[in-house]
Amino acid sequence: MAKLWGGRFDGDTDALVDELNASLPFDRKLYREDVAGSLAHAGMLAAQGIITREDADAIAVGLAGILADIEAGAFEYRQSDEDIHMAIEAELTRRIGDAGKRLHTARSRNDQVALDFRLYLKREIGEVRGLVLDLIATLADIADANLDTIMPAYTHMQRAQPTTFAHYMMAYASMMRRDVTRLEDCRVRMDYSPLGSGALTGTTYPIDRERVARELGFAGVTENSLDGVSDRDYALELMSDLAILMMHLSRFAEEVILWCSWEFKFVELSDRYSTGSSIMPQKKNPDIAELVRGKTGRVYGGLMGLLTVMKALPLAYNKDMQEDKEQVFDAVDTVKKCLPVFTAMLATMTPLRENMRNAAARGFINATDCADYLVKKGLPFRDAYTVVGKLVSLCIATDKTLETLSLEEYRALSDAFDSDVYAAISLDTCVEQRSVTGGPASDAVKAQIASVRAFLGARE
Ligand code: ARG
Repeated sequence: MAKLWGGRFDGDTDALVDELNASLPFDRKLYREDVAGSLAHAGMLAAQGIITREDADAIAVGLAGILADIEAGAFEYRQSDEDIHMAIEAELTRRIGDAGKRLHTARSRNDQVALDFRLYLKREIGEVRGLVLDLIATLADIADANLDTIMPAYTHMQRAQPTTFAHYMMAYASMMRRDVTRLEDCRVRMDYSPLGSGALTGTTYPIDRERVARELGFAGVTENSLDGVSDRDYALELMSDLAILMMHLSRFAEEVILWCSWEFKFVELSDRYSTGSSIMPQKKNPDIAELVRGKTGRVYGGLMGLLTVMKALPLAYNKDMQEDKEQVFDAVDTVKKCLPVFTAMLATMTPLRENMRNAAARGFINATDCADYLVKKGLPFRDAYTVVGKLVSLCIATDKTLETLSLEEYRALSDAFDSDVYAAISLDTCVEQRSVTGGPASDAVKAQIASVRAFLGARE
């Protein structure tokens, strides 16, 4: 099959070379962006007098037909066309003749692919961002309904201090909010059109790069043509953002998995978002959370893969860069698949309030508050800490809790204790006293919810 670049070649390429060389099986995803870029390019060429208005019109009609055929599944892809850029251009020429051959004036596939990829990722960022915003909104709703759902919070996986399920949810909302702003920042840096960089040193034609950039919705144009065609930072930055986002989802997934175990039983997942075992009839497994945790590896892999592709590439374009697409597509698609299911799993999950509270009532998680009680009575914190340490060891030896020790037992260790100690160490007091900004007291969490909702509202 004759190649578009076949001019200086006598023989055909080996079939295995064609297969290795072809990116068409995966860069087909870029068809919309490729057509949009070509339309803007052809319009600009005509406006600048580089091609005729008639040719530009014929190109526009031809491209519209090709776009419609691709969307209808009626476009015939030929592997010999190598990539989506050549597939569309070759078909255009088959359809409209010589005008089609003028489309590639003042353009190279190198700036064309860089343009298409940026356009594609800008749109995908918007979609991922919307899905993260949905997740944040769900977390705020869950928090709203669980302001007084007391649970233990952990350090070293040891019960540490009491908090609420609402406070916990808002911790994840804070993380996701950073994910949203990271994606937005990435989009701002990505928002420059590389078209006009040509193969690598621009072009001698009097093109209007700004016009094309404006028409395609970019904030401006890239500043150096060598960089314009060889930069993949925008893809790497997006992959880094997605890797961090997946790391957050994976941590959350890990907690959901633990909470579903009989050892915790803090939540019950909806049947719609759980699976059973083929052999163990009693099983209800948190597969969705496990898959999200597992798929995090794919997204990290994509980031590492692309960093490695880029690490020793001299300027400017090198064919290695064709390896950018599959990894980025896979990462983006994986995140887009995970987010809505994860959100739905959380939205339909039932917090088991009694179990959480019972877990919070054991393990001396009010020991800090007991020490703080003594501090309020005038003891230095270190002395109070020692007294409470002794009380805890007494509890362990006598199988009691701080709540069930008698006042005599308290006073045997410090006469600063009074009967008001019991109210001071109740779980509800422990939580409500932590009204510091960022803390678990219901007013503090309400403020966090309001802040997150304002963040969401500003993005509607
Ligand atoms: N399919 C190529 C890619 O994805 C397009 C650019 C090819 N340019 C070239 N000079 N071979 O990177």
